[in-house]
Amino acid sequence: MLKKLLFGIFFLAVILLGYFIYDNYKDISFSEYQEIKAELPVHLSGKKFAGSESCIPCHPSIYETHVSTAHYKTSAIADSENILGSFNEKDAKINLAGSQVIMTQDEENSYQISQTYHGKVLKKSKINITIGSGVKGQSYLTFEEDSLYQLQASYFTLTDNWINSPGYPNYDFKRPVMDNCIKCHVTFAKNKVITGNSNVYDKSSFIYGVDCERCHGPSQDHVDYRVNNIKNMDFDPIVRAETLNRKQQMDACAQCHAGLRTVQIAENPFSFIIGDNLEEHSRNYNSGKPSTNLDVHGNQYGLLVSSPCFKESTDMSCITCHDPHKNQRSNTKHFNSKCLSCHTKPENLHEKTDTSNKTDYSNCIKCHMPESPSSIMRVKSSNEDKEESVNVRSHLIGIYVDSILQN
Ligand code: HEC
Ligand code: HEC
Ligand code: HEC
Ligand code: HEC
Ligand code: HEC
Ligand code: HEC
Ligand code: HEC
Repeated sequence: MLKKLLFGIFFLAVILLGYFIYDNYKDISFSEYQEIKAELPVHLSGKKFAGSESCIPCHPSIYETHVSTAHYKTSAIADSENILGSFNEKDAKINLAGSQVIMTQDEENSYQISQTYHGKVLKKSKINITIGSGVKGQSYLTFEEDSLYQLQASYFTLTDNWINSPGYPNYDFKRPVMDNCIKCHVTFAKNKVITGNSNVYDKSSFIYGVDCERCHGPSQDHVDYRVNNIKNMDFDPIVRAETLNRKQQMDACAQCHAGLRTVQIAENPFSFIIGDNLEEHSRNYNSGKPSTNLDVHGNQYGLLVSSPCFKESTDMSCITCHDPHKNQRSNTKHFNSKCLSCHTKPENLHEKTDTSNKTDYSNCIKCHMPESPSSIMRVKSSNEDKEESVNVRSHLIGIYVDSILQN
């Protein structure tokens, strides 16, 4: 009797525990997993993707925070929820020389329509894919058959309006999207040409967002193994971070945060897998340039490794300050605490400064990692306006005289 009761309590506890763990997560059944599995592409290395939904049962808390990151949201199939630009008739247009672009929606889809100022429709393009979580902005892609193009109008967060896409001329234009454009904004995409040098894609091969398997490598072998071996810690096909040196760990970030890396050495721009040596996959044209010429946009790696903090410490890497599974944007307290973990006595550091001016030294990054204008990322809010640079946080940690003068 007691045994039965105890068993009953145990059983209830298991169900309750299960409920708490799985509540809030998209629960998937084994058959659904088999379906996801069947649809997922195979990486060029032959390794199979499992999809981040298959990580939920065993890594629920990582999944939960990961879906709120800019990485996860950086690309998606467009729907009425994730397009950030407004579709109000008044705002939903941009004017070009000789034509204009208007944004419209019907029940199912969203479009960019290129038309003359008399209203004659020149081209109607469906918005298929969003690029950008919206921290700074969002661009849109369209498929024509299997060919992928960037659309004329982008959304710019700072001014909350539609703009002519960065780098676009003042007339009707469409830019073919090849691997060297989307390689940093999706986890995977299979180009019809092995070098990635075409804009023709296998549509079903797209894995959107910078998802788990872009950083950890295609992981179906890990999932298949772990389904039956949850406890064995002696073997696992997944690459463990602790087995990698600092360079290898940083290469996993540098594939997208160390310049455009358009000099392709490996066969395809998606070839890199964590643990590889990035230099054997891609390089920058400007690799010999001094750090002052590196752009703040997309080259956090190049700037960081030029900083005294990095050069004079042995273990600093991207994850010293960033938790890759969490959205930490604007968490000033978190970032300051990271500086203070090495610079333990900041009050001693600023002795030379005149204390009578009551300078507030609490926000370290305001002065030592200032937001700086990018020379690559430039936008025009409207036709009449001058092209302006978008500010990006500099990763060249140092002493900036200008920023102190501005205070
Ligand atoms: C059936 C359960 C299960 C599933 C599903 C699963 N994992 Fe794991 N995972 C584990 C276990 C168990 C470990 C080993 C735990 C440890 O090292 O502490 C592990 C370890 C890892 C590690 C290595 C951590 C380290 O020590 O460096 C990574 C990375 C990882 N998993 C990623 C993933 C990803 C990505 C997915 C989804 C594609 C996934 N896992 C799906 C059970 C699972
Ligand atoms: C596949 C390319 C890719 C990889 C790999 C990658 N990133 Fe990113 N990262 C991006 C893109 C693209 C964005 C911009 C996302 C957006 O806002 O749309 C971004 C944004 C970020 C941001 C800003 C987040 C925010 O809230 O605005 C940080 C911090 C960051 N990455 C750090 C890292 C670190 C650390 C690693 C390695 C562990 C890494 N990234 C690996 C492509 C990548
Ligand atoms: C080498 C990697 C890389 C390539 C190639 C790349 N981007 Fe990005 N992109 C980034 C990173 C990293 C960020 C965010 C952080 C930054 O500004 O450094 C970003 C930011 C953006 C943003 C703003 C996102 C936001 O939420 O604020 C848009 C939009 C964007 N990229 C579109 C594109 C388009 C369109 C292309 C192709 C023509 C492209 N990118 C090519 C790495 C890349
Ligand atoms: C931007 C790159 C990036 C993405 C995306 C990413 N990870 Fe990680 N992950 C890392 C890095 C780097 C580490 C090592 C962190 C460390 O050593 O502190 C790590 C560590 C881990 C670990 C072991 C350590 C721990 O915290 O338990 C697991 C498990 C894991 N990741 C699973 C996942 C899963 C599941 C997803 C998707 C839901 C995911 N990761 C998405 C970069 C990433
Ligand atoms: C892993 C440890 C570590 C972390 C984290 C770190 N630093 Fe440093 N930093 C160093 C070392 C080592 C030096 C070189 C010796 C020195 O000047 O103390 C340095 C130097 C500096 C310098 C002098 C630069 C120059 O040009 O002389 C500044 C300013 C600085 N750090 C600010 C920061 C800020 C701000 C942060 C947080 C965003 C930070 N550091 C995070 C280790 C670190
Ligand atoms: C010393 C701490 C530190 C290190 C190390 C560090 N970062 Fe950052 N990073 C920051 C801070 C602080 C911000 C600003 C966050 C904010 O705006 O809230 C930031 C912002 C970013 C952004 C967003 C830039 C923008 O303006 O939108 C990206 C992308 C990024 N980091 C990538 C990286 C990568 C990749 C590495 C490794 C090469 C790295 N970081 C190493 C402190 C660091
Ligand atoms: C208002 C701007 C400002 C803020 C905020 C600020 N600093 Fe500084 N920091 C400076 C200036 C300017 C210098 C150059 C030396 C001086 O004049 O004191 C400096 C110097 C340094 C140095 C180099 C000292 C040396 O002798 O080489 C370090 C390290 C440093 N700061 C760390 C920090 C940390 C950590 C924080 C956050 C707690 C911080 N700073 C906040 C302006 C600032």
